[in-house]
Amino acid sequence: MADLRDLAVPVVGAPMAGGPTTPELVVAVSTAGGLGQLAAGYLSPERVAADIAAVRAGGVDTFGVNIFVPETEPVDRDAVARYRDRLLDYAASLDVELPTIEELGDDDDHFDAKIALMCDERIPFVSFAFGCPPADAVAELRRHGCSVGVTVTTADDAVLAADAGADWLCAQGPDAGGHRSVFDRRTEPPTQPLDDLVEEVRARVAVPLVAAGGVATRDRADRLRSSGAAAVQVGTLLLRTREAGTKPAHADALADPARTETVVTRAFSGRSARALRNRFTDEFSEAAVAEYPAVNKLTGGIRRAAATDPDGINLWAGTGFREAVVESATETIRRLG
Ligand SMILES: Cc1cc2nc3c(=O)[nH]c(=O)nc-3n(C[C@H](O)[C@H](O)[C@H](O)COP(=O)(O)O)c2cc1C
Repeated sequence: MADLRDLAVPVVGAPMAGGPTTPELVVAVSTAGGLGQLAAGYLSPERVAADIAAVRAGGVDTFGVNIFVPETEPVDRDAVARYRDRLLDYAASLDVELPTIEELGDDDDHFDAKIALMCDERIPFVSFAFGCPPADAVAELRRHGCSVGVTVTTADDAVLAADAGADWLCAQGPDAGGHRSVFDRRTEPPTQPLDDLVEEVRARVAVPLVAAGGVATRDRADRLRSSGAAAVQVGTLLLRTREAGTKPAHADALADPARTETVVTRAFSGRSARALRNRFTDEFSEAAVAEYPAVNKLTGGIRRAAATDPDGINLWAGTGFREAVVESATETIRRLG
């Protein structure tokens, strides 16, 4: 089984669902000696299989694939209906018809089919977000030679994940861009600083640890590694690289001097995520409800209609967003290694 501690460059490329992660990005990160990870979230198993084939065709064997763990609590339809009402006028202004409440039910993002695909393809590293994968899925993956990682935001969740059989953990701190990997979507994301989280998880769990969230410089990466993290993970820093599939409006906003602030919001998906503040977050964060994945589907049409408008889309960004530059991801990874 592959071991995180064997990476030539102890830097993991974050899996970034929704477009930023491409097979080219994964190839660039792994070729630089780091660990590139595909993002299987929101994609069909067929599309994930095609992305895996593209990474292998790029000459890369050591890479990961990231899967979302399905929600355990069913969607609260009344809450979704309230937020839907709040979005109606805005959707109409974009000529978008919002999905009906019936179309916004629960959805497991093809979890079982994706686990089967990881086993068939013997993916070296399989990571999870949004929850603790069931112990039987972890055991099945390990039987097929997959090294299993789980993203956690608290030391208690780290213990749960280790008990479920995880080989390694990604400790995600409050500065992280994109979704926080809280196990219960309705809890507020913890604000414990990353260094404290790493220290607490290391004291309670023996498996290797990847530290993520706001890592943007070599100094920061070195400090985390010297306090015991086997590697650091970077997401935002890769968003403007040439191999990423980030929407131009998103990539440009990260470098726009007028955008100075990130906020944590449920407005786009129902799960808490850090993004650049924009008109959408100002207008809808307060009314948003904690109903993932229903809210994600609810806002999908309006985000697509506003794809070129930085004030209408989710500009996921960690607090280190100013350090994201246009370059090859190979250079980004080597700079941090
Ligand atoms: C655009 C974007 C998309 C993301 N999508 C995922 C994802 O699909 N799965 C996941 O585990 N983490 C995802 N994350 C979170 C990252 O794994 C990681 O925790 C985060 O990027 C680290 O903070 P940083 O962005 O400050 O480097 C995403 C982050 C960003 C910025």
